[in-house]
Amino acid sequence: MSYPYQIKNAEEYKAAYKKSTEDPEGFWGEVASHFQWRKPWDKVLDWNFSEPKIEWFKGAKLNITENCIDRHLATMGDKPAIIWEPNNPEERTRVVTYNRLHKRVCQFAQVLTNLGVKKGDRVCIYMGMVPELAYAVLGCARVGAIHSVIFGGFSAQSIADRLYDANAEYIVTCDGAYRGNKDIPLKSVIDDALIGNRTVKKVIVYTRTRTPVSMLKGRDVWWEDEMEHAEQQVEKDGKVSFPATEMDAEDPLFILYTSGSTGKPKGVVHSCAGYMVYTAYTFVNVFQYQKEDIHFCTADIGWITGHSYILYGPLSAGATSVMFEGIPTWPDAGRFWDIIDKYKVNILYTAPTAIRSLMGFGLGHVHGHKLDSLKVLGTVGEPINQEAWHWYHENIGKGKCPIVDTWWQTETGGILISNMAGVTPDKPTYATLPLPGVDPILVDENGKIIEGNNVSGNLCIRHPWPSVIRTTYGDHERCRLNYFSAYPNLYFTGDGASRDENGNYRITGRVDDVLNVSGHRIGTAEVENAINMHAGVVESAVVGYPHDIKGQGVYAYVIYDHVHGDENLTRQDILQTVTRVIGPIAKPDKIQFVKGLPKTRSGKIMRRILRKIAEGDTGNLGDTTTLLDPGVVEEIRSGKL
Ligand code: WT7
Repeated sequence: MSYPYQIKNAEEYKAAYKKSTEDPEGFWGEVASHFQWRKPWDKVLDWNFSEPKIEWFKGAKLNITENCIDRHLATMGDKPAIIWEPNNPEERTRVVTYNRLHKRVCQFAQVLTNLGVKKGDRVCIYMGMVPELAYAVLGCARVGAIHSVIFGGFSAQSIADRLYDANAEYIVTCDGAYRGNKDIPLKSVIDDALIGNRTVKKVIVYTRTRTPVSMLKGRDVWWEDEMEHAEQQVEKDGKVSFPATEMDAEDPLFILYTSGSTGKPKGVVHSCAGYMVYTAYTFVNVFQYQKEDIHFCTADIGWITGHSYILYGPLSAGATSVMFEGIPTWPDAGRFWDIIDKYKVNILYTAPTAIRSLMGFGLGHVHGHKLDSLKVLGTVGEPINQEAWHWYHENIGKGKCPIVDTWWQTETGGILISNMAGVTPDKPTYATLPLPGVDPILVDENGKIIEGNNVSGNLCIRHPWPSVIRTTYGDHERCRLNYFSAYPNLYFTGDGASRDENGNYRITGRVDDVLNVSGHRIGTAEVENAINMHAGVVESAVVGYPHDIKGQGVYAYVIYDHVHGDENLTRQDILQTVTRVIGPIAKPDKIQFVKGLPKTRSGKIMRRILRKIAEGDTGNLGDTTTLLDPGVVEEIRSGKL
């Protein structure tokens, strides 16, 4: 069974693309007519990129959870919505049907209401990958609270910054989380984040690892107690209900923090209607989801990929989504392949860094697995190299599964450039063609549009698509400056790209000071700030360098005024500081101590030179005549790690 808005072949793709550019309002109005609305829109689109102000399905009323859950109940209440695979393969699997998901989300919405959460309130969610995380996210959406999920790898300090920025009054967390052979004490991290905090009113704690936790009277409550109480409230005569809050199309649905080239992470805001329509549309079309398929996206719900392609996209399409608590290498590097055979997964969506890491463990872990249920493979998060692409295609897809290389960003909400499985051709290392409704262009440094093919430039998008970022929370001007001011009337992605003779796009990586480490976005300025907080550090400069598994590694040049202990201990101290300030995901892979940094006469660090040295490309460092002290370059070059 297919969907009314599902594109089935290359001709239909061309026709849909043409219609989407000639008549975007007609095109998206038609797609949106297949969703459930409390009240239809007055106007499909109103926009300008100069403020920016972007309104999709203006005037419409809806609740996204009615689309993701309620409307499926009559026809497929017993269909699995979420199949949960625990970290420990010996532990029991949990299959959450649409009926069960409905009940749990209603219950949790009631819990939130009982605790005083109202429409528009910000709820921070810091949990492991357990089904309760899905209930928490959707429970927020049901009452119209704005969720802000924070990935478990962020530190107490990062959480505190985000709580403050979003002015969040509620937190949902777990006692701990299992990841491989580790237990991560989430609640205790939250406790650290809350030292001195005066705004958070309630912390809901779900028991996963039963690690000892401190529960503050009046503030901290157990998930299980609250849910038990709520069960009696939402269930009457065997029927479960909790009325969903009616939301305006443009009401914010969630905030997700992401790093930029400067300063602190920004709270990217997505709104209800456009995000819903676009994630469902792209899910169905890119992966060519068929109604009985099992979809397995390996991302964490702490990132946009998990929001859009584990939860909202698949659930609004009534799909079955696998949610995995653990990591790809535990108990061994065959874990993904075990899961695929166990649930007969049809679609696997993962990241190049995971593929490269599993490649490194050898084919021994792939052999002995059938993998014959697989129909479609996908990648996301960073450019995929030739070697990884072919390994994935041959050994996992057995040469018969198309690979969709999906390019998008936290800010875009959903996939913008990708082939569609079996519909438009794949081309190794190319994200290929824009999806319907997406109008990419390349521009040069001066904002001049680069026409024609076999060209490269900075990637921009010309017209809004339904799930484009609406604002950065609490600071609209920052949104304008970051994305809509570099080139007038264009959304600037921060990525460089090339376009081949057939119009296929190849994303070459960031052109700003943002790193992509294992598919995670890390701002160099953020890491520098963290390093500079360490006593003894005078100054630092952070750049990326090619890393076999992570894609990019973090290389830090550090000036210090005295070593405490020896250099290696000082390195450990700096790593500890970064872990405290940001989290383990931002730890530098290499720290080189230097006496000076290459600076221009006006005091600007010349990162181009530092990048070249870190990359090991020290032959030609380009023009160094504008340097204040060209001597430092030689010192840095000779000390390269
Ligand atoms: C950046 C966005 C969107 C989900 C995960 C990352 C890079 C993303 C691809 C791809 C080449 C890619 C870009 C982009 N990126 N997908 N298929 N090919 N590069 O989300 O953390 O917001 O990072 O990831 O550089 O700007 P994110």
